[in-house]
Amino acid sequence: MMLLAIIQQSALQPAADQAGRISGLWWVYLTVLGTIWGLVMAAVIVGALRRRPAEMPDRPLAHPMTEKNVWRVIHTAIGLTVVILFALLLSDFFIDRALSSPAPDNALKIKLTAHQWWWEARYLGAKPSDTMVTANELHLPLGVPVEIELDSVDVIHSFWIPSLHGKRDLIPGHPTSTWFTPRKTGTYYGLCAEFCGLQHAHMRLAVTVESPEQFKQWYAHQLAEAPEPKAEPAQRGEQIVLTGTCAICHSIQGTTARGTVGPDLTHFMSRQWIGAGALPNDRGSLAAWILDPQGPKPGNLMPSHSFSDADLNALLDYLQTLN
Ligand code: CUA
Repeated sequence: MMLLAIIQQSALQPAADQAGRISGLWWVYLTVLGTIWGLVMAAVIVGALRRRPAEMPDRPLAHPMTEKNVWRVIHTAIGLTVVILFALLLSDFFIDRALSSPAPDNALKIKLTAHQWWWEARYLGAKPSDTMVTANELHLPLGVPVEIELDSVDVIHSFWIPSLHGKRDLIPGHPTSTWFTPRKTGTYYGLCAEFCGLQHAHMRLAVTVESPEQFKQWYAHQLAEAPEPKAEPAQRGEQIVLTGTCAICHSIQGTTARGTVGPDLTHFMSRQWIGAGALPNDRGSLAAWILDPQGPKPGNLMPSHSFSDADLNALLDYLQTLN
C-alpha cells in the first residue's frame, strides 16, 4: 500500500488543471535551463580541447577582427540571457495569475480543518441537511471545481496533494482557501507538508476522484445516519461506545455520541486508514488501536483502553457496522 501511495503522490503526474499548470512550468524551466546548461558545457569542452595556432602561442586575440567577434558573442549572450530570463519571468507570472484566480461559483465547497494530527473534512451542502463530516479521506467528482476552505485549530499545518495542486499553509486564526478542478479519476495521496509536531508524518490525506454518479452515491451514503445494530454482540458494542469514553470525543450520527475532539466515526469503516495513515483499517489493527493508540502513534490524544475479550469483540463488531 505504501509503495502505491508513493507512486500516486507526484507533482509530475498531474490529475487536475492546477497541478498540470505547475508541472508544465516545471518542464518549461527544465527544458530551457537544461538546454542552456548543455550548450555552455559543450562550449567549455570545445574551448578546452581546441589547440592554439603554433605561430601565436600567447596572444590569441591579437587580430582586431577576432576581438570584435568576441565582443559580439558577449553582447549576444547577454542579450539572450535577458530575453530568456524575461520570458521565464512572464510564464511564471501568467501561471501564478491563473492559479490565484477566484474559485467559480459552482464549486463544491469543503471546509478542511487540520488537527494534530488528522484532517477533519466538512462538506458544505446547499442546505444544512446536506452537510456532512468525515476525516482524512476526501471523495471528489471528476471535472467539478472544488473549493477547499482551510483552517487549523492548533499549530501550522500545510495542505498538499501534489497531483492536484501546490501547497497551502494552514495558519491558526487565518482561514484561507484553495481550489482546483480534478481531471483524472484515481486516488491521490498527500501529507501534511509543514512540520507540526511528533506525528507530522502520520497526517496523511487521500483524495479519490470518481465519476459524478459514483460521487453522488458516496455522498448520499455518507449523509446517512449510522444503522442501528440488529443483533448481539454488536448491540452491546454500541452500548459500550455510547456509555463509555468513546462518545466523549467521537460523533456517530444517529446516536447520542456527539464528541468533537476526534474524527467523526459515522462511516468509519468506509475509510482505508486508522489514525490518518498510522494503520490499515482492518479488525486486527482496530483492536490494536483501541487498546493502545499510543503504540502506533505516540502523542495522539486518544487514551489507551482495557476491555475484556468479550467486550472488545462486541465493540469491534459494532464499529465494523459503521461502513
Ligand atoms: Cu500537520 Cu505536519
